[in-house]
Amino acid sequence: MSRQPLIAPSLLSADFAHLADEVARVADADWLHVDVMDAHFVPNLTLGLPVAEAIQKVSPVPLDCHLMIENPERWAPGYAEMGARNVTVHAEACTDPRGVARDLRAAGALAGLAIKPGTPLEDHLEVLRDFDTLLVMSVEPGFGGQAFIADVLPKVRTARELVDTGHLQLIVEIDGGINADTIEQAAEAGVDMFVAGSAVYGAEDPAKAIAALRAQAAAAMQG
Ligand code: DX5
Ligand code: ZN
Repeated sequence: MSRQPLIAPSLLSADFAHLADEVARVADADWLHVDVMDAHFVPNLTLGLPVAEAIQKVSPVPLDCHLMIENPERWAPGYAEMGARNVTVHAEACTDPRGVARDLRAAGALAGLAIKPGTPLEDHLEVLRDFDTLLVMSVEPGFGGQAFIADVLPKVRTARELVDTGHLQLIVEIDGGINADTIEQAAEAGVDMFVAGSAVYGAEDPAKAIAALRAQAAAAMQG
């Protein structure tokens, strides 16, 4: 079965004073990853719905909104309503994940569930039936530029197996520390969608960095 690697640059590593230009620099990406942090669920604060909506208006690439916030039930549907392609909430922050997934899909978005590095996949397999994407965090959420945690790869392998055997229908996404040194192991483990912040925006030419990551992942998937 041949999979195509998908690349989602994370705006967290972009220059926030020039967001429209930074969005335009990654126009050939598959999704644009927008990290929403509330200084409660994670010890950092980024942006919220009004800024995400402004990004949505200028982005040629579908938005992938990663909500690292408490009470996602309250906020997630707004991101779907403003046109985000995928809206991901954290399993650790949800009291009613099924309800969120239903609301997101009703608003026309894909529904994503994220798990932190220490969160077992097994605890959430049942609710994942109601989701479209699974985001496996490969760093502790909160900051860009951290080192990749390879210990999460068994979760990716399990998810891949469940998708390939038809038990779940999910895009398997990985987020944190993805770069030229780590993308191959993630691709081999079964990732579909690779989030990369510093590896794309830290590069001189983000478009070239995206193409290089995509090629590396594609080769690793075939091998
Ligand atoms: C971390 C964010 C990531 C981050 C990834 O909490 O969810 O999306 O931007 O950045 P890198 O690729 O630099 O690890
Ligand atoms: Zn993220």
